[in-house]
Amino acid sequence: MKRINIAIDGPSGAGKSTAAKAIADELGIICLDTGAMYRAAGLKALRLGVDPCDAENALRIMADTDVDIIYCDGVQHIMLDGEDVTDKIRTQEVAQAASDISKIPEVRIKLAAAQRAFAQKYDVVMDGREIGTFVLPNAEYKFFVTASVEERARRRYLELERKGALDGKSYDDIKAQIETRDYNDSTREFAPLRCADDAVVIDTTNMDEAQVCAAIIDAVRAKG
Ligand code: DC
Repeated sequence: MKRINIAIDGPSGAGKSTAAKAIADELGIICLDTGAMYRAAGLKALRLGVDPCDAENALRIMADTDVDIIYCDGVQHIMLDGEDVTDKIRTQEVAQAASDISKIPEVRIKLAAAQRAFAQKYDVVMDGREIGTFVLPNAEYKFFVTASVEERARRRYLELERKGALDGKSYDDIKAQIETRDYNDSTREFAPLRCADDAVVIDTTNMDEAQVCAAIIDAVRAKG
């Protein structure tokens, strides 16, 4: 049986994860947030005091690292060496470590293999940076979800403010962090953030979550 594989790529803060979850719910299929896997790898490096840019040591610890995804009542939980770290990977420090460790080709190859196995087993909406270009180049449905850096920084600022997690950071600090990650993710040599030639581009700068979700679902249904 042919699996439904929907690839959603794009830069940080463009609304991919929120859209992916809503679409998976609407279609009754699973959603895999691949960024969470890189975040778990980044967390492991931080915990062991290993510089995530130091490929040799990062690879040494990754050889002994188990990153797994499980679902409880349809909600994704990310497991690091058997520990549920879902609530521990959403800090800015872990995000940067994830971005750094994700530049190492062998780390990507290991996590991409797990993601491909997942897509063979389940109908899935997968969001990341290079799902349509590298992980699932044959996915039937590919989207590139983006937004202006100002809008992405505004959303992230409001989200952190709502959670009381700004830690004294200004809008400009958040914008600079997003720009650094964009640069990192799109200039790495191996499987960078890139829009697949056959992806549908959705610029969410002036769209709300419901509109983004509707645009993707309409495109999936139109294709059949
Ligand atoms: O989507 P996110 O913010 O949770 O991702 C964190 C970092 O992980 C991101 O800056 C780059 C990396 N990443 C990646 O390289 N490839 C993916 N498919 C997903 C995330």
